Amino acid sequence: MEVKINTLIDQETLEKRIREMAEELDRIYAGKELRMIGILKGSVYFLCELTRHMKTPVTLDFISVSSYGNGMAPEGEIRFTKDLDESVEGQEVILIEDIMDTGRTLSYLMEVMKKKNPASLRVITLLDKPSRRVVDIEPWMTGFTIPDKFVVGYGLDYAQQYRNLPYIGTVE
Ligand code: IMP
Ligand code: MG
Repeated sequence: MEVKINTLIDQETLEKRIREMAEELDRIYAGKELRMIGILKGSVYFLCELTRHMKTPVTLDFISVSSYGNGMAPEGEIRFTKDLDESVEGQEVILIEDIMDTGRTLSYLMEVMKKKNPASLRVITLLDKPSRRVVDIEPWMTGFTIPDKFVVGYGLDYAQQYRNLPYIGTVE
C-alpha cells in the first residue's frame, strides 16, 4: 500500500500541548486520585505521554471497542471487545481517546461507563473533528481541533499501520 503522509501536527507541537494538558489536569485534580482509561489501541501513545508528565496519582485501565473496519469509512456498528479490568465505582474517571469523529464511540462508552457508577466521568481527546459529529457529545478537554481529514500517527492508524509515527499526518 503506497500512501503519502503530510505532517499536520509535528512532534514538538504535540508534546508541548500534551504537557500543558498534564499541568491543567494536575491543577484540576489536586489532592485527588485519577483512574485514566485508555481506549485501545489509538490512545496509548497519548495516554503514555500525558500521564508521564502528571504528578497526580493515576491508575490505568483499558477498554477496547471497534467502530471502524480496516479502511477510512465508518462501519456504523460499535463492538465492545475488551471491558475494564478493575471496578471504577466511586473513582474519578477520565476516558482517553485518540480522536473524536462522529462521536458515536464515546457516546456509547459514556453510557456503558455511567452504569459502573464512577464518582466523576470525563472525556479527553487528543484530536477533535467537530465538523463530523453526528451525536450530541463534546470532549471535556481537547488537544487539537482539526479539519475533516483522515489522520494517522501518534497512535492513530490506517489499516493498523502508521501508529508509531511520532507526529500526526494526513493521508492522501
Ligand atoms: P467516532 O465514533 O466516529 O467518533 O470514531 C472514533 C474512532 O474512529 C477513533 O477512535 C478512531 O479509531 C477512528 N477514527 C476517526 N477518525 C480517524 C482518523 O482520521 N484517523 C484514524 N482513525 C480515525
Ligand atoms: Mg479508535
